[in-house]
Amino acid sequence: MSVTILAIESSCDDTSAAVIKDGILLSNIIAGQAIHELYGGVVPELASRAHQENIVPVVDAALKKAGVLPSEISAIAFTRGPGLLGSLMVGVSFAKGFAIAGNIPLIEVNHLNGHILSHFISEPDKDVRHPAFPHLSLLVSGGHTMIVKVNSHFDVEVLGRTIDDAAGEAFDKCAKVMSLPYPGGPVIDKLAKEGNAHAFTFAKPRIPDLGFSFSGLKTSFLYFLRDEIAKDPDFIEKEKNNLCASLQNTIIEILSEKILKAVNNTGIKTITLSGGVSANSGLRAHLTKLAEDNGLDMFLPEIRFTTDNAAMIGIAGYFKYLNKDFADLSIIPDADLRI
Ligand code: KG4
Ligand code: ZN
Repeated sequence: MSVTILAIESSCDDTSAAVIKDGILLSNIIAGQAIHELYGGVVPELASRAHQENIVPVVDAALKKAGVLPSEISAIAFTRGPGLLGSLMVGVSFAKGFAIAGNIPLIEVNHLNGHILSHFISEPDKDVRHPAFPHLSLLVSGGHTMIVKVNSHFDVEVLGRTIDDAAGEAFDKCAKVMSLPYPGGPVIDKLAKEGNAHAFTFAKPRIPDLGFSFSGLKTSFLYFLRDEIAKDPDFIEKEKNNLCASLQNTIIEILSEKILKAVNNTGIKTITLSGGVSANSGLRAHLTKLAEDNGLDMFLPEIRFTTDNAAMIGIAGYFKYLNKDFADLSIIPDADLRI
């Protein structure tokens, strides 16, 4: 019998719904929230309100695009956390209501597990390769930066994580300092293409083992700009492309050094990249070269599965359905959920 999962993702500022049938993605609708651009960052209160507005039309669109009726859904999967509590509550409440109405199982998914499992999404008429177990996953997003050893779909070990900011936060905060729009990551990526990655040097953190730190980079970037602006008030405007390229290069080097260290420590040669920052063209190119040079089997996610999306929650939900790993209706969101 076929298994059709409806998945909901609402952990931050994207409202998304997806339909996955027997592990194959039929639809993945994402409604972003432009309102946050005005504030240079996500405003939690506004995010939860926008989720409330978007959730029903987004689910409706996902079902229609998939050509699936609500009565044909086998189970509903949702993001339980980590994320913004008010945002998560919208998705969790919707999922509970849908589960009760259809008398179908409810499946909780850890958002981070979703990013990691985005490499297992299959699509109709596409020959998609999936990574073997165990593999190493470099998860880089706006809220998280970690290296995870993935033994099986849900047996994962965090080998190292950031002790302060995430890589995406470093992009976004440094972009803000340069008065670039939010989110800064994609903007820096674009401008960096026109700049010299070695124009400026920023100190890299000395964090032992497989840990990361990005708050020092943000501070050194800020102080560097302050000093240069004192000499030339137009410094940022004149050097924008070089600043973006050099900053991006520093972040790429920090991430690449650690994933290579993880490969050497564990002997695991299959690596995957996931999370919003994995959309970065410089990082993708650098890691592709690193994989070639070191004989690694590397998996880069499709760009539309890098930032938050319900397809990744759906595929995680599908595997949980096969394991009969269902949640109780009393479940509540967990903003600090860990893997
Ligand atoms: O995974 P995601 O959508 O949300 C979290 O779970 O955090 O990641 C969002 C982050 C933001 O910090 C955004 O600036 C960053 O991903 N991002 C990028 C790029 N596209 C998105 N960072 C660098 N280069 C990009 N092309
Ligand atoms: Zn995410």
